[in-house]
Amino acid sequence: MLLLSGWLLALASATLLSPHSCVAAPNPAAGQPGLTMSLTRRALSRRTADDWAAWAQREREFLNLRYGGASLQKRSEGINLLTNQNADSSYYGSLAIGTPPVAFDVILDTGSADLWVADTSCTSSCDKVAVFEAASSSTFKNLSQPFQIVYGSGQASGSLAQDVVQMAGFSISNQVFAAVDQVTNGLLTSPVSGLLGLAWQSIAVSGAPPFWETLASTGAWTDQLMSFQLTRFMNASNVKTEEPGGTFTMGFVNSSLYTGQIDYQSLSTTPSYWLLTISSMTVQGNSITIPTGSSAYAAIDTGTTLVGGPSSAIQNIYAQIPGSAAGTGSWQGYYSYPCSTEVNVAISFGGPSWSVSPADFQLTQISSSQCIGAFFVLSTGTSGNGPSWVVGDTFLKNVYSVFRYNPAAVGFAQLSETALAMNGVSGNPPSATIGSVSASATAGVSSSAASGRWHLDIRTTGSCLIIKHNSDIWDISI
Ligand SMILES: *[C@@H]1O[C@H](CO)[C@@H](O)[C@H](O)[C@H]1NC(C)=O
Ligand SMILES: *[C@@H]1O[C@H](CO)[C@@H](O)[C@H](O)[C@H]1NC(C)=O
Ligand SMILES: *[C@@H]1O[C@H](CO)[C@@H](O)[C@H](O)[C@H]1NC(C)=O
Repeated sequence: MLLLSGWLLALASATLLSPHSCVAAPNPAAGQPGLTMSLTRRALSRRTADDWAAWAQREREFLNLRYGGASLQKRSEGINLLTNQNADSSYYGSLAIGTPPVAFDVILDTGSADLWVADTSCTSSCDKVAVFEAASSSTFKNLSQPFQIVYGSGQASGSLAQDVVQMAGFSISNQVFAAVDQVTNGLLTSPVSGLLGLAWQSIAVSGAPPFWETLASTGAWTDQLMSFQLTRFMNASNVKTEEPGGTFTMGFVNSSLYTGQIDYQSLSTTPSYWLLTISSMTVQGNSITIPTGSSAYAAIDTGTTLVGGPSSAIQNIYAQIPGSAAGTGSWQGYYSYPCSTEVNVAISFGGPSWSVSPADFQLTQISSSQCIGAFFVLSTGTSGNGPSWVVGDTFLKNVYSVFRYNPAAVGFAQLSETALAMNGVSGNPPSATIGSVSASATAGVSSSAASGRWHLDIRTTGSCLIIKHNSDIWDISI
């Protein structure tokens, strides 16, 4: 899902997070405000004896591995079967939270980096979805810090908490997530209870390490990557609200689901979104002109249904389609074109050119002859913080996609016959598969240290200096 204004929101929420917010609160430590700095370490990352024990254990395993001792690290692989909701509108998987574990359906979203689920106090827009009941989990910890996230399609707010989270046979004992009590209408469609962000920690509004990143960085995975195969139902007849959605893997790629090589392209920036640079694009075989530089950055986003891009590029796409016209009214930002035209768009991110099928391009029919295209004008790129392009499921249904931790890259490969054979084949959506836990990890500062990666962010807001080092956050009032 397109995360709006990640940087600004992270700032706003970092300010909210602190119980001693240096913007709002007087500074008791400073006899003379303005002369003394008070340093407040936030509760979010306070390390307990258990955390230290886990750290010590991992540090030892890491050194054992590095210096040739017997491998104590348990590496593993996991799969999660997906559900395709509302004819390719979204794809969800399942995870479990708490002790005893309770399963929830969550959108798997490579376009954001926070985990959240609706909780028992969510009354509006949480109808008919399973809600998290904190009182029923013996391992639940309320971090009592406000959380709010804004996407292109709505927003969710609540408070941060910590608990055991399990998915596809992996478990993290102290995963930070948001228990959400307010969700805008339409963001959750039953049975989906929330969202699992699969982008990088640097854009996490909570500031916490994402579930996937802890697993990748602690060596829990056989290979430091995750992958998607997404099914297509939008041109199938008699589509049900929920259909089999394909496969999400963690720690390995399933070679039965693709053919040929996986073409990896390095991320265009330091990891935030999964950002690649669009190097060229063709429509009906003809090259079109697209903006270059950072205006060619594209977030590869499983949580977004369509493909959005800069207005000049979108205009150039439709200029290749006779009979197309800019949409008006509720189709503002979209274009119509003759349904009888088979539109072939292909995109290159520096390597091979990947085709979007005409079926995926054809979003919906609006009159006897005209259809709406799935490529639309995205205005967030021009208005500041967001990427210029968001490449969602319209594209991703056409490839096997791989999100690699180290070296940070996104890879694409051709879908295999086995994978293609799942498109449009109606069936029962998979039931929640929590899996027996084969590998566990603890989120914390050493997870980044062990892999030689670390984050340092320094930001200012008014009289407040915020320093983030890995998962530690410090407030300094000046
Ligand atoms: C956590 O604590 C906050 C108050 O600090 C409260 O508003 C919220 O409902 C609590 N969350 C849960 C899930 O109990
Ligand atoms: C790989 O995908 C095939 C086809 O869906 C499936 O039968 C097989 O079990 C998968 N392999 C693993 C290891 O998950
Ligand atoms: C749906 O679209 C795909 C990709 O273009 C195509 O291979 C398939 O035959 C189409 N299915 C139907 C039922 O038209």
